[in-house]
Amino acid sequence: SRREEHNTDHFFKIILIGDSGVGKSNLLSRFCHNKFTLEFNSTIGVEFTTKTLIIDGKPIMAQIWDTSGHTKARPITDAYYRGATGALLVYDVSKHITFINTKKWLADLRNNADPNVVVMLVGNKLDVRQSVMVSTEVGKSFAEKESMYFVETSALRATNVENAFIDLVEKMY
Ligand code: GTP
Ligand code: MG
Repeated sequence: SRREEHNTDHFFKIILIGDSGVGKSNLLSRFCHNKFTLEFNSTIGVEFTTKTLIIDGKPIMAQIWDTSGHTKARPITDAYYRGATGALLVYDVSKHITFINTKKWLADLRNNADPNVVVMLVGNKLDVRQSVMVSTEVGKSFAEKESMYFVETSALRATNVENAFIDLVEKMY
């Protein structure tokens, strides 16, 4: 039908990248199922979740891909990057090394994904700010330098999680 054709015009593939433990899977489960898991279950293999979003009154199908950030589990197959229209590049604001490593993830992304891929830099675990290692200013200026969008989130407290995904989709739309 026309409607289905129309829907497929608004199909976006979003990939989650970043170090192991930064909260990629919890951002995804918070966004898609409003669920958060306190214990750490590192992702095995590749998983994806599909969610329909309404943007400007139109249905948008977002397929969100998730995999482990463990270097042992890499290299991520081409299939992970292939066709991605957007990426959430996640670090943990309380762990500086995860921010440093976003450079590597970004290089990997730019080497493997479509040059037009829209990237949102995500500083997650905003709730553990008392042990802040990466300031908002540092995150924001790196994002600006690399032409990425920027948001800070807490999957635990559900802060800005919707914004991270919805804003990314709106930028791709
Ligand atoms: P890999 O699958 O190994 O790449 O890790 P991941 O990036 O998917 O991390 P995951 O979502 O599994 O979260 C890792 C740990 O961080 C878990 O114990 C989560 O409960 C915790 N976590 C995730 N997001 C937050 C957050 O916003 N705040 C706090 N305090 N903990 C979080
Ligand atoms: Mg995971």
